[in-house]
Amino acid sequence: DAIPVLCMDGPTASGKGTLAAVLAEQLGYHFLDSGSLYRITGLAATRAGISLDVANQQRIADLLRGLPIRFEGSHILLDGEDVSDAIRTEEAGMNASRVSAFPMVREALVDFQRSFRKLPGLVADGRDMGTIIFPKAPLKVFLTASAACRAERRYKQLISKGIPATLDSLRADLEARDARDTSRSVAPLKPAVDAKLLDNSDLTVQASVEIVLDWWQGKQ
Ligand code: C5P
Repeated sequence: DAIPVLCMDGPTASGKGTLAAVLAEQLGYHFLDSGSLYRITGLAATRAGISLDVANQQRIADLLRGLPIRFEGSHILLDGEDVSDAIRTEEAGMNASRVSAFPMVREALVDFQRSFRKLPGLVADGRDMGTIIFPKAPLKVFLTASAACRAERRYKQLISKGIPATLDSLRADLEARDARDTSRSVAPLKPAVDAKLLDNSDLTVQASVEIVLDWWQGKQ
C-alpha cells in the first residue's frame, strides 16, 4: 500500500488525541479524529429528537449518511455550523460512546473514515483504527495511561477552560466509558495483535512523540 497510515488507538483521555495531532503535524500527514465522528453522530441524533437507543440504530445510521460533516483545520462543521465545542462536553462523550456501540452506525462510518487516507499519509486516532478501519497499517500504536492519570489530565483540561469538574466524577465517567467501549460486541476497544503498546502515564508528550517517531522510522 502506497499511502502510509499510522494508527493511534487507546482509551478515553489516554493522550492519544494530542499525540496523534503532533505526529500528524511533524510528519506533514493528514489527521483523522474518528471519535469526533461518533460525537457528531450523538449530537445530530439528539438534535433530531432521536433517542440514543439501539432500537433506533437504523434511523441514526440513515441520518448519518446524509450529514454534511466538514473538517476545517481543527474545526468541525456540521451543516456549516461549527460544533467543535458542542461535541467536546462530557455529555457528548457519553452520547458518542452510546451510539458507537450500534453496529449500523459503525458500518455507516467505515468508508468515510477510509477516505481520509490520502497522500502523503495519515495519522488516525480512535479505538478501532488498527483493528477494523486500517488493518494493514504499517504501525499501530495502542496508547494507555492509568485511570488516575487520565482523570487528572481531563480535570486540568476542563478547569483550564473554565468548565467546572470534579476528579471523582471524571474518573467514574472514564471508567464507565472504558467498560462500555471494551465490552461492546462490535469493534471493542482492544489492541490489534500487531500493535505496539505504549503507557504514557509518566511520559511527556515530547518523549512519547520521539518513541513513536522512532517506531515509524523503523517501518519505512
Ligand atoms: O476519542 P473520543 O473520546 O472523542 O471518542 C468518543 C467515543 O467514541 C468513545 O468513547 C468511543 O465510544 C467512540 N469511538 C469509537 N471508535 C472510534 C473512536 C471513538 O467507538 N474509532
